[in-house]
Amino acid sequence: MSSIRCKTLLHWYAQHRRDLPWRHTSDPYHIWISEIMLQQTQVKTVLPRYRQWFHTFPTIASLAEAPLDDVLKAWEGLGYYRRARFIHQSAIRITEIFSGHFPSDFNAILSLSGIGRSTAGAISSFCFDQRTPVLDGNVKRVLKRWHQKPEALEKQLWEWAQSAINQASHAANWNQAMMELGATHCSASKPECALCPVAPHCRAAFHVDILAEKKKPVAVQNLYWQVDMHRCPERGIWLIQRPDKGIWAGLWTPPIRELDKKPKQKPSHIHQLTHRRIHLYINLLTTLPTGHGQWVRDIRSLALPTGIHRLLTS
Ligand code: ADE
Repeated sequence: MSSIRCKTLLHWYAQHRRDLPWRHTSDPYHIWISEIMLQQTQVKTVLPRYRQWFHTFPTIASLAEAPLDDVLKAWEGLGYYRRARFIHQSAIRITEIFSGHFPSDFNAILSLSGIGRSTAGAISSFCFDQRTPVLDGNVKRVLKRWHQKPEALEKQLWEWAQSAINQASHAANWNQAMMELGATHCSASKPECALCPVAPHCRAAFHVDILAEKKKPVAVQNLYWQVDMHRCPERGIWLIQRPDKGIWAGLWTPPIRELDKKPKQKPSHIHQLTHRRIHLYINLLTTLPTGHGQWVRDIRSLALPTGIHRLLTS
């Protein structure tokens, strides 16, 4: 890694960075929530939700005290609800073990649920000025291109990432700059080498082989789910809370039964997850429901998966 490349990238970042709210703070609670939201959700979706989050849960203590249902509700629409459960678990742990203060030690940060090495690196550099690299999908792609090694493995990538941040004059800005470059001029599908500030220091510049970089597609599993709709004008709709594990864990849905084979009729709605396509078939019922559940008049009061929300409101 040349130090000229370091300086050039930091200079470019200082001039061109997007004005994002989490770039105006080093408060660990704010940074932590932003990084978890950004793990699998686009910046433009995160922006309003990030602001809203701190109205609902202004402090780590308020988050730890809240019922899980309220946390899932606040996460509604962001997807990958496991993240909300992890945030809640971690808030409780921070209250109990770290006296309510977000830890500053890297290994303590890493010990929190839902925080892997890259997210711990982001938090510890942004909040505590540590030279701990971020290695998310964008940063991996940038490093692979600089070294022209599309097949580079994790171990190698961490070494490159660590060696680069060791030379940077500012660890937090370095991590932000790497993510920013990956999100803009060094994107997966449309690299803009002519606009890239560090193209002269990149082995792949102007001949990025996008096809060679593509990962093998993971097979998509089709699921066929019958959604039992008990509706009643006086009482609303019958919803049950899904189990703690599995798809849509802890969220509220009408009773669902998995079908063995694909029904002949068209699904009422198809909900796409990363590796699964869920075909939903409405089954209208006039019988009274049995088992655990509750009548719900206003579905906005509970956390529902987006696919079910669409089904109920369409
Ligand atoms: N993606 C993950 N972390 C990010 C950050 N801090 N800024 C912009 N995009 C990100």
